[in-house]
Amino acid sequence: MDYGIKGRKAIVCASSRGLGRGCALALAEAGCDLVINGRDAEKLAETAAEIRERFGVEVTEVAADVGTANGQRALLEAAPQPDILVNNNAGPPLRDFRELSRDAIVDGVLNNMVTPIELIQAVIDGMAERGFGRIVNITSLSVYMPITGLDLSSGARAGLTAFLAGVARPVAHRNVTINSILPGKFDTDRIRANIEHGAKQAGISIEERARQQIEEIPAKRFGTAEEFGQACAFLCSAHAGYITGQNLRLDGGLFPAAF
Ligand SMILES: NC(=O)c1ccc[n+]([C@@H]2O[C@H](COP(=O)([O-])OP(=O)(O)OC[C@H]3O[C@@H](n4cnc5c(N)ncnc54)[C@H](OP(=O)(O)O)[C@@H]3O)[C@@H](O)[C@H]2O)c1
Repeated sequence: MDYGIKGRKAIVCASSRGLGRGCALALAEAGCDLVINGRDAEKLAETAAEIRERFGVEVTEVAADVGTANGQRALLEAAPQPDILVNNNAGPPLRDFRELSRDAIVDGVLNNMVTPIELIQAVIDGMAERGFGRIVNITSLSVYMPITGLDLSSGARAGLTAFLAGVARPVAHRNVTINSILPGKFDTDRIRANIEHGAKQAGISIEERARQQIEEIPAKRFGTAEEFGQACAFLCSAHAGYITGQNLRLDGGLFPAAF
């Protein structure tokens, strides 16, 4: 399928590994030039080289913390007029809420709510003026469904979701959309770290813990970053201009609801 976005400029935050990388690859496959990001410059360069080689698009690397003013400035300097913005960042650590300090709670809100809002503030008017914009936020199934130890993820991301519900509508007539994708359980470094943590807590092996988690998912497997990226690329496509303010759960059926 031709997504109709060849030559579009996309900023994909936190995209050297995992779900962000999946989005970057799928957007590159659709012909977008990219700004990709991560803190580890070496890993970022590896991902950039792979994308250039596979898809022949322009890739600019911004090695920076997306949560900082400098990091955001560098991203926007690399693509002052982006057509596409994929908001992503590290999620909060898996932790009993009693153990979260005030600073840790504030950090979670800054990283998973304030940072994407700041980037949207910077790009949305230009998108509206130019008559095309696609914004996708990687949030979490934890917005819908409590996950023990990820209460900060639920809280900060539910805040972002509610905030953006109002922001999305006034720009819809300018062909600017804002949607979120809510991952359930995807095979990335982050979920592997969570599985390791859970295994240690329960006193079981990592394999057993992974098996238990897969058993709960109707699809009986973890999702892949590649399929996550394809969903993101579709929401960023020329064909998705009528989809806005939505929260797409990608979870292999894990959230048990009819609606
Ligand atoms: N995987 C899942 O099943 C799942 C489920 C629900 C929600 N999520 C959420 O989805 C998001 C992505 O998860 P993932 O599984 O893809 O994680 P991941 O595999 O750990 O990858 C995280 C990516 O973000 C980059 N990153 C982290 N902190 C950054 C920062 N401050 N500034 C810039 N880049 C940064 C990392 O590179 P550097 O470390 O080099 O910076 C890496 O490229 C997270 O917010 C996570 O909570 C994931």
